[in-house]
Amino acid sequence: MRNIRAAVFASGTGSNFEAIMKAGNLGCDIHLLICDQPGATVLEKAKHYSVPTYVFTAKDFPSKQAYEEQIVKQLHDAGIYWVFLAGYMRILGKTILRAYEGKIINIHPSLLPVFPGKDAIGQAFTAKVAKTGVTVHYVDEGMDTGPIIAQEEVEIFEYDTIDTLKNRIQKVEHDLYPRVIKALVQKNKA
Ligand code: GRF
Repeated sequence: MRNIRAAVFASGTGSNFEAIMKAGNLGCDIHLLICDQPGATVLEKAKHYSVPTYVFTAKDFPSKQAYEEQIVKQLHDAGIYWVFLAGYMRILGKTILRAYEGKIINIHPSLLPVFPGKDAIGQAFTAKVAKTGVTVHYVDEGMDTGPIIAQEEVEIFEYDTIDTLKNRIQKVEHDLYPRVIKALVQKNKA
């Protein structure tokens, strides 16, 4: 029997996409990358791993609903069951959320509900909190607000710079996201 299929949504570098691909053995196949930035580095990574891509430019569509309908069509055509957001810099609208209810997860570089939105690592660093971390959560209509699946703490040290902190957080992300995906896929098969 064919493995369950998943899509990753990403807008930028794609280090999480790469971590997911490298991890392998997830219980599902990453069969599509959705990207809203034609020049994004993640597209080179998709090519390297031979993952088909759907790249779009939001402003070419008359509305958010219109581009999301096209995304849902791409997902359906590719037989996608799970959606993993990995640095996708857009809030999902009703069209995708309804089509994939309970099947979309996201990774965010803070201990949600603290520091949602953009530059979560910078927000934590500037706030001089003792610890921050990484959250994997289900996606709803809000900005980083869906039910939390897993979290891991990252301590902020006196000597940290924004770069050293970012590196440690990314290491945690790259370890945590594939593990959570694997567990989630496994649980839903049982
Ligand atoms: C990650 O920090 C992720 O948590 C956030 O966006 C960033 C994407 O980084 N949602 P990358 O493109 O995977 O390197």
